[in-house]
Amino acid sequence: MKQTKKKRIKKVDQRFYTTLTKMANKPKVLITRPDIPAVGLNLLNARCDVVLWEKPSPIPRSELLSRVPGVSGIFCTLTDKIDEEILIAAGKDLKVVATMSVGTDHLDLKALKNRNIKVGYTPNVLTNATAELIVGILLATSRRLLEANRAIYRNEWKAWAPTWMCGTGLSKSTVGIVGLGRIGCKVAECLKPFDVSRILYTSRTVKQEASKFNGEKVELDKLLEESDFVIVTIALTPDTRELFNAQAFEKMKRSAIFINASRGEVVDQQSLIGALKNGTIKAAGLDVMTPEPIPLDSELLKLENCVVLPHIGSATIETREEMARITAENILAVLEGASEKMPASLNL
Ligand code: DGY
Repeated sequence: MKQTKKKRIKKVDQRFYTTLTKMANKPKVLITRPDIPAVGLNLLNARCDVVLWEKPSPIPRSELLSRVPGVSGIFCTLTDKIDEEILIAAGKDLKVVATMSVGTDHLDLKALKNRNIKVGYTPNVLTNATAELIVGILLATSRRLLEANRAIYRNEWKAWAPTWMCGTGLSKSTVGIVGLGRIGCKVAECLKPFDVSRILYTSRTVKQEASKFNGEKVELDKLLEESDFVIVTIALTPDTRELFNAQAFEKMKRSAIFINASRGEVVDQQSLIGALKNGTIKAAGLDVMTPEPIPLDSELLKLENCVVLPHIGSATIETREEMARITAENILAVLEGASEKMPASLNL
């Protein structure tokens, strides 16, 4: 009897020991929020010892600093600034930082490179969703969709009227795309069938892909001067910060419609507000701004000629699932010793 009890205790001890050893061997990964699509969470939970920020909101800096020591991987989003201070706090085990975004302006890439830390991101999978949103916000802005909708609720729709709520059409227009990357190309392809006559773009090099829509590479000034629609899809870098300032808006047509779906910081927002108020340009559609979220008392929200969306470019269910899956796989590839298999690593 005694013998059986001893055996049972030994078995339980063994199981406990095995679990402990397994946990000890699993790499520690910090996920900066709990509300990422389950596919990403499950992949990491199965193969890592996950440290999670429990609230579905951006992790406060102090919490990030206190949870990061000793992790081998960080799963972050564009609201988490990963800089030198975080890397120092993380310590020498950190091997990979993977962001669930295509934008990497919240990461200190130089510091990551210096420490030989791999960086994963999520290009390609959000191209279509973001291009779709850009076309949507462009039409909402040019055809005054939100303003017209608000007019109904304000009881301003008295009868069909010949000139009421008239907007700007795409047909025969010139569209200018600043920064012809994957998303810019897709937007151009989507807009071409609206009978657009010219598509201009800026880029360091002539893009082969632009032949699909007869895109013409031009200097920024020419694009600003000649475009009826100026669409910004350029990444935020020190060179592009506040690229769209008072002088840039001055160069645009007074009838120009300005669309930004990259990062708020590429625009000098006060100058944009001024340009919209005094008629330097006609209207703007913004999926991004500074800061995010925009304070409710911001002047931007008071302008009828400005359509503002809460940074939802990539927000389709399928896209966000893919982004979470790729981010998790970027981390697992590195932590399991196969960085060459990262689905999307950034060349540092
Ligand atoms: C990104 O991924 O950088 C977008 O801004 C959000 O999806």
